[in-house]
Amino acid sequence: MKYDFTSILDRHNMDSIAVDPPLGTPMAANFMGDSNATNKEGFDLIPMWVADMNFPTVPTIPAAIIERASHPAYGYFFPRKEYFNEIIKWQETRNDVKGLTAECIGYENGVIGGVVSALNVYCSKGDNVLLHSPTYIGFTKGLENNGYNIVHSPLVKDENGIWRMDYEDMEKKIVENKIHATVFCSPHNPCGRVWEREEIEKAMEIFKKHDVYVVSDEIWSDIILNGYKHIPTQSVSEDARMRTVALYAPSKTFNLAGLVGSYHIIYSKYLRERVLKESSLAHLTI
Ligand SMILES: Cc1ncc(COP(=O)(O)O)c(C=O)c1O
Repeated sequence: MKYDFTSILDRHNMDSIAVDPPLGTPMAANFMGDSNATNKEGFDLIPMWVADMNFPTVPTIPAAIIERASHPAYGYFFPRKEYFNEIIKWQETRNDVKGLTAECIGYENGVIGGVVSALNVYCSKGDNVLLHSPTYIGFTKGLENNGYNIVHSPLVKDENGIWRMDYEDMEKKIVENKIHATVFCSPHNPCGRVWEREEIEKAMEIFKKHDVYVVSDEIWSDIILNGYKHIPTQSVSEDARMRTVALYAPSKTFNLAGLVGSYHIIYSKYLRERVLKESSLAHLTI
């Protein structure tokens, strides 16, 4: 399979808020911070405010979409058996996940939708939720819009300039603010850290000790530099497996964000059934 990472893709007039933002609208102000950001004659905007890829997706994806789209009926549907089988295979091949079954996987309309559904299960409105800072803006907006109070634990640079979690600060904030829910971003956006196993283990021990339920956003786990390995949060212990809702998506790695499709992995039957119930409140069909 040949990938094209070097051609410059012209995305104008192809449904892209990255290169054709709706300037002058509240939406632009909301996303870009400046609703009237304009580009000078002869210059392009560099869309650093949005994590959209500027390379073409892998050719098998448009081929499969075109094949399906050529059948002229687009009715209600449930994901097929192949959907679950491919996720199971992907997780086993890439992340060494063993024993994942279809019932633990669920379709989500976007990772942030899944984050909010999980928090709605873990929390009451107004609850304090622990996040590391700097924080991905989608978490900030998603949590604030849904009535949660974010408590930040700043990441700190070690002597080698590597961003690390401050476990002492995390524990202090959890206790002081009676926190029972956290959003853990792995790999971390925006720091780009691929957390090492020991780091995740240490964080999960603190969460266990203080009964903190975890949403683990692993949307970036497939796009990692050579020499690094993604460790799924749920894989570090049996307790981590059962106290975590994990969220994944092909949207970043394969430039598919506009197709929205994401998925959760939830091993705890209780959490799974509560999250499915929460998602069903929007009356989506799947
Ligand atoms: C850490 C993280 N989570 C979630 C998202 C957005 O996911 P979705 O569009 O599926 O809600 C992004 C997008 O940049 C992200 O960086």
